[in-house]
Amino acid sequence: MSEKLWGGRFSRSTDELVETFNASIDVDRRLYDSDIEGSIAHVKMMAKESIIPETDAGTIIKGLEKVRKKIENNGIQFSAGLEDIHMHIEDALGKEIGDVAKKLHTGRSRNDQIALDVRIYLKKETRIIIDLLAGFQKALVRMAQKHLDVIMPGYTHLQRAQPVLFSHHLMAYYEMFKRDIQRFEDCFKRIDVMPLGAAALAGTTYPLNREFTKELLGFSKASDNSIDAVSDRDFVMEFISHASIAMIHFSRLSEEMILWSSSEFSFITISDAFTTGSSIMPQKKNPDVAELVRGKTGRVLGNLVCILTLMKSLPLAYNKDMQEDKEPLFDTVDTLKICTEVYTRMFGNIEIHKDRMVDACRHGFLNATDLADYLVSKGMPFRKAHSIAGQAVAYALGKGKELNDMGIEEFKSLSELIQKDVYGFIEIDKMISRRISYGGTSFDNVKQAVLKAAGELGLQ
Ligand code: ARG
Repeated sequence: MSEKLWGGRFSRSTDELVETFNASIDVDRRLYDSDIEGSIAHVKMMAKESIIPETDAGTIIKGLEKVRKKIENNGIQFSAGLEDIHMHIEDALGKEIGDVAKKLHTGRSRNDQIALDVRIYLKKETRIIIDLLAGFQKALVRMAQKHLDVIMPGYTHLQRAQPVLFSHHLMAYYEMFKRDIQRFEDCFKRIDVMPLGAAALAGTTYPLNREFTKELLGFSKASDNSIDAVSDRDFVMEFISHASIAMIHFSRLSEEMILWSSSEFSFITISDAFTTGSSIMPQKKNPDVAELVRGKTGRVLGNLVCILTLMKSLPLAYNKDMQEDKEPLFDTVDTLKICTEVYTRMFGNIEIHKDRMVDACRHGFLNATDLADYLVSKGMPFRKAHSIAGQAVAYALGKGKELNDMGIEEFKSLSELIQKDVYGFIEIDKMISRRISYGGTSFDNVKQAVLKAAGELGLQ
């Protein structure tokens, strides 16, 4: 029968299967560092408030440091019998320093302890993720700078719509990831709340100095309600929501990478280092990285459904169901990090086929709106101009040509307002230059946007 730290009121040992079933050590062992950090702060605070003697605090802290080293050197054997990381650390501490270890858990419960550990962990990871996302933004901006004036078709409904700058398209992703960073920064404020001192749920009879613990651990505030402190997982739900949106952005980008690298588009070539071959078709070069990122988005969305469903019917305060929050959270952190890193690297290894891109703008009547705008510039109301341009498209389609290939007499048969200057007006680079409305794709606008972004990111 294994000696449980909570075994006092039990007369029978835990069923073997239940022991494995109940244990979370395989998952929460990664919180060892946060757990020890939290315990050291708790002990320092207790010594300051004379809840435990200073000398005992010193012994416990030294012991905890030793336990940390032991874990880092794989010197501790994890087992289901000790359930979770908290019990493992307390047990290992006991082996280091003897009975003094039993004072560590004064005025504390695993309920506030786990809430603290996850918050310490997630604050660190959120900072790392914000930096990684900013790193990817840099890759986007560098590519935009390098190909500032490259023109490609812009799409709606995946049909060629109007020419845009490739750099403008990239900068759309810059904006998306900017919002992701803002969301994580905002959510950080709510992760940054120190729950220790809530104990099981009601607070504790010991004169804990929660402000001091909060200061020691570098939190912005201590939680205001002990019941909320141990039952709140909003910050986990929020974090996974934001991660889901960021993954959706990567997934949409992946979809474009996959399309653009197909022979149908041939807009880009992804370097061999970021693609793989087929075991049967020798000619194949597959965009696996983009496909995997698109696929892994499904996992993260699954994690979001998991945490939301987990929480939706829980009465206050702590329930063991909440032990299941860590797998979706850790998986989300790991997945978002690796996807961001791999994308950042891949982006330095993509070749752009600018001739193919601009060529694609020459077919499919991408200048039809501009023909209407031309007529408006000659005094025709837009609705009428739209209709004439539509007739021009229908006519050209019938003749198997593009608008630029129509003779001036053909144009004039549709409207007398059309002069020879129409040809210059519907040229691709003129169409780009005229899109000067703020946020539009004109050369000047995009140059300014890229410059501004480079400044925000500290790039030159
Ligand atoms: N392993 C638990 C979790 O992850 C720690 C808290 C357990 N609390 C308890 N009263 N059993 O949620």
